[in-house]
Amino acid sequence: MGHLLVTGGAGFIGANFVHHVLEHTDHTVTVLDKLTYAGNRENLTTADPARCDLVVGDVADAGVVGDLVPAADAVVHFAAESHNDNSLRDPEPFLRTNVVGTYTLLEAARRHGTRFHHVSTDEVFGDLALEDPQRFTAETPYRPSSPYSATKAASDHLVRAWARSFGLEVTLSNCSNNYGPYQHVEKFIPRQITNVLTGRRPKLYGAGANVRDWIHVADHSAAVLRILESGRPGRTYLIGADGEADNLTVLRAILRLLGQPEDAFDHVTDRPGHDRRYAIDGSRTREELGWEPRYTDFTVGLADTIAWYTEHRDWWEPVKAATEASYGRTGQ
Ligand code: NAD
Ligand code: DAU
Repeated sequence: MGHLLVTGGAGFIGANFVHHVLEHTDHTVTVLDKLTYAGNRENLTTADPARCDLVVGDVADAGVVGDLVPAADAVVHFAAESHNDNSLRDPEPFLRTNVVGTYTLLEAARRHGTRFHHVSTDEVFGDLALEDPQRFTAETPYRPSSPYSATKAASDHLVRAWARSFGLEVTLSNCSNNYGPYQHVEKFIPRQITNVLTGRRPKLYGAGANVRDWIHVADHSAAVLRILESGRPGRTYLIGADGEADNLTVLRAILRLLGQPEDAFDHVTDRPGHDRRYAIDGSRTREELGWEPRYTDFTVGLADTIAWYTEHRDWWEPVKAATEASYGRTGQ
């Protein structure tokens, strides 16, 4: 493969992926990242500068993208506006980055015949009822609920259209909820960990019955690399680790691991249109690629994640108060 252009590589999953690639392959990497509030150049400080450089720029900027794509053997596209609550407050950046940004990259990849891997989410399938025995498969129809998931669905459709209409060599992956190091404190698990660490009470939306299907980010990174190495062109791979848990159960586990009483949290205003349950059937991906998650015990992954946030206060403390103030404005 050689040289990868990794968009969004200064964000949570992108940075974990870059470190995984540098550790497990000989590839070199250029990260293209706008360094929005969610991107942080410190996420890449331990990356070998001889093999990894960061270009600060916008995936929707055809000039920047046109300069970088020709040098790449493959584009791995993580960059996105990624937070549902933000998309409810202001959808516009989601359309620009997730839709126009993906289109801009696809056009450059088409001009240069560059392999393209698109990183997407299980949220494109909408939600499942709590008691529904089904899980999402690659055949599940698209039914996105939020502005975020609608823009991710749009980007998936663009990628498939560029494959069919222009013969672009693409693969796609739709993954479930990630957790682990470098995740912004706006997201559920790091928000609750850092609330406890700063003496705030954790905040649970509604009754906490909503179910998410958790996967450690290290397992997601390994799966994406496996798809790049041996995925079949045109294919969609669902990535999940059989990690279904309702939010109340996850919050109680965090409180327990931090030595707090299990009822030491607040119920706050629910998210409008809140998806009830996500669940991935990743069996086809596992069978075809021989990939298996290594974090099979969620409590172990959670304990590692709590240790990381405890040891890296300087990474998240500068943005904690502002993130909570922003939630406070919507009663969350
Ligand atoms: P994140 O918000 O932590 O990081 C996004 C990164 O993209 C940031 O570094 C940001 O600066 C960058 N970025 C945003 N707009 C940009 C633009 N216009 N140009 C260049 N860079 C830009 O997101 P994440 O949680 O790491 O998610 C990464 C990808 O994985 C997204 O495509 C998301 O949809 C997908 N995904 C996330 C999850 C999850 O649980 N977090 C699960 C499945 C799929
Ligand atoms: O399923 C994959 C998706 O997972 C990704 O595509 C998204 O980029 C990623 O943000 C994530 O989306 P969610 O909306 O599921 O994640 P979030 O961390 O925002 O919330 C997880 C659950 O926790 C959800 O049911 C809402 C709830 N929640 C969230 C926050 C921030 C709370 O109860 N309290 C909170 O404070």
